[in-house]
Amino acid sequence: MIRSQNSQPLMALPALFIVLAMALMLAGCGTLAEPVLQAASATPLAVEERAAAIQPTALPTATPLPPTATPVPLPTATSTPLPSPTPEPTAAPVQSPIDRLVAVRDAENGKLLFETFQDAANYSCANCHLADSEKTNLGPGLLNIKDRAAERVAGQSAAEYIYESIIDPQAYLVADFDPELMPRNWAEIYSDLQIFDIVAYLMTLEGESDIDEPDAADEG
Ligand code: HEC
Repeated sequence: MIRSQNSQPLMALPALFIVLAMALMLAGCGTLAEPVLQAASATPLAVEERAAAIQPTALPTATPLPPTATPVPLPTATSTPLPSPTPEPTAAPVQSPIDRLVAVRDAENGKLLFETFQDAANYSCANCHLADSEKTNLGPGLLNIKDRAAERVAGQSAAEYIYESIIDPQAYLVADFDPELMPRNWAEIYSDLQIFDIVAYLMTLEGESDIDEPDAADEG
């Protein structure tokens, strides 16, 4: 009894293997393939999730670029305003106090003083200087003296040179003239303002030159 009861289930095992083997063969052909397709449709969702997870990591790599680009334009913008201050000092020509004084003095009165005989000097300016000529009398002719005076001494304007020529005739000696001839006491005879009047007058002496510049060929 015991054997027969045990032998029945043991005999059924080969039958179960056959049924399972057939079921596997059917699965390869059709109905059991569906779970495979479902698994394939589930994979794209996982890719999107991964892509979404990758995006945040890509952002930090882009941020380092802007900081490197911003420092470059700043130094070029600060260097451009620098050239503009330099033209300002060169644009302002300086007029000396003598230049400004002479410009507002009375040339008419200067002409009068130039022609007035002074006992203390034993001369008038006009005794030695021609106002309407560049030719020599006892001293150099003073027509166009303004142009020559501007060239006489480096750093001195025409008015400054003429003023000094009157108060200190030996400060600059014109070539080929007697250095002792011009009286040296004009600053005792005339006030500074009177001398500025004379300078203002001499600055007005302009006209066509009446002397020929001697050149080397004529001198021989
Ligand atoms: C006695 C003659 C004499 C009298 C007066 C005289 N000068 Fe002269 N002056 C000269 C001689 C000479 C020179 C040239 C030598 C020299 O530089 O001192 C000269 C030079 C000058 C010069 C420089 C000219 C140049 O080409 O660089 C000026 C300007 C001048 N005199 C102005 C005057 C004035 C203004 C007076 C009157 C206030 C005056 N002189 C009176 C004889 C005179």
